[in-house]
Amino acid sequence: MNTESSSVPAWTLLQWQELGQPRQAWWRNESATALPRKVQTADDRMPADQAYRLICEGTALAWRGDFHNARQLVLALGRRLDRKSRGKQAAPVASPVGFPQAFHLHRQAQAQRARVLSGVLIEFDAQWCCALRRAPDWRQACEEAWGALPGGEHGVLIPLRELLGAVGAHEWRKKGVEIPALGAKARIHAHYGVFSPVRGEYLDLLARAPLPAAGKDQAWEAWDIGTGTGVISALLAKRGVQKIVATDMSERALACARDNLQRLGFERRAQLVHTDLFPEGRSGLIVCNPPWLPGKTASLLDQAIYDEDSRMLRGFLQGLAGHLLPGGEGWLILSDLAEHLGLRSRESLLAWIAEAGLQVLGREDIRPRHGKVQDSGDALHAARAAEVTSLWRLGMR
Ligand SMILES: C[S@@+](CC[C@H](N)C(=O)[O-])C[C@H]1O[C@@H](n2cnc3c(N)ncnc32)[C@H](O)[C@@H]1O
Repeated sequence: MNTESSSVPAWTLLQWQELGQPRQAWWRNESATALPRKVQTADDRMPADQAYRLICEGTALAWRGDFHNARQLVLALGRRLDRKSRGKQAAPVASPVGFPQAFHLHRQAQAQRARVLSGVLIEFDAQWCCALRRAPDWRQACEEAWGALPGGEHGVLIPLRELLGAVGAHEWRKKGVEIPALGAKARIHAHYGVFSPVRGEYLDLLARAPLPAAGKDQAWEAWDIGTGTGVISALLAKRGVQKIVATDMSERALACARDNLQRLGFERRAQLVHTDLFPEGRSGLIVCNPPWLPGKTASLLDQAIYDEDSRMLRGFLQGLAGHLLPGGEGWLILSDLAEHLGLRSRESLLAWIAEAGLQVLGREDIRPRHGKVQDSGDALHAARAAEVTSLWRLGMR
């Protein structure tokens, strides 16, 4: 078992001065924000322009005012960022030649936005209670997202923006996402920090691809590499696969997959393994839906979207032949958005497949149905509008 990349960052103690006294609280770098260089307190009297300037200079603001006013302040910071970027923003880029640059600028702007909006910090005690006026009781959402604090008398400082993300994730976790391919009213509940199958069209591909014969004479075993919420394992179980081995590098994902497989009654058919890509042995069917875009991961939440240096995609392809039973198939689910953005070429994908001793047995395509495809104001619109998601059926050459 390889647990080298733990999914949850360590807590560190952040120190600052307040009313002449030294203060400390736990801090954890969950998103794109780095440990603040300086912390100072702020309350309802601080004008948004001053807050914006301080945060841009590297000072985070530990909020001491009314909770709702902190939310207003974050909105006001967002408006300042919008105004600034409106002046600079280039027109949407239509040509694929312009895309890598447009994409990198888009990510830079997102990172800058995250940094500024994360500059307003909310303090909680060790039981996740917040003493601010009109602070809601968000204990459950915080515990789900961040678990127990390391202990001691210290509380924790959380950027309000991340807090709102955790509360949104908590609501989504309760509600779940309907997955028609799993049957009427079947839902998948994504935990905080786990890739949610909200864009579920690739599951339609998985529901209809013909299951390979290899392995059918043995107890049918399929693998789900990078299981996330466990949705692919559940779908394979629904299709009659009796045993599934599901892997992930993220402990959060494995806990989430366990939860979903239990809810759906498939827990006895699935084994969850914390490992890098493949478990030991061979299988007749190995499915993988790696993050679709090559790119640096600035945060843990990025890890389900961005695949740095295409490490997971290439690792899956390179290891596949060594883990397939004779006649077995590898199913790679991959969107071609990276190709439309100029981040990866079709030729390089085909070359990686060939270099791994694999051949393409078939390919099924589907167009995304999500709202962004229709958003012509999006700088990446032309690429998103052309996107196709494919299920590549791969076999040994
Ligand atoms: C795009 S998500 C797909 C999740 C799920 N299979 C689905 O289709 O909804 C990719 C998943 O792969 C996991 N992952 C990334 N690198 C991995 C690796 N080297 N080995 C195993 N899992 C990995 C991530 O934690 C994430 O859960």
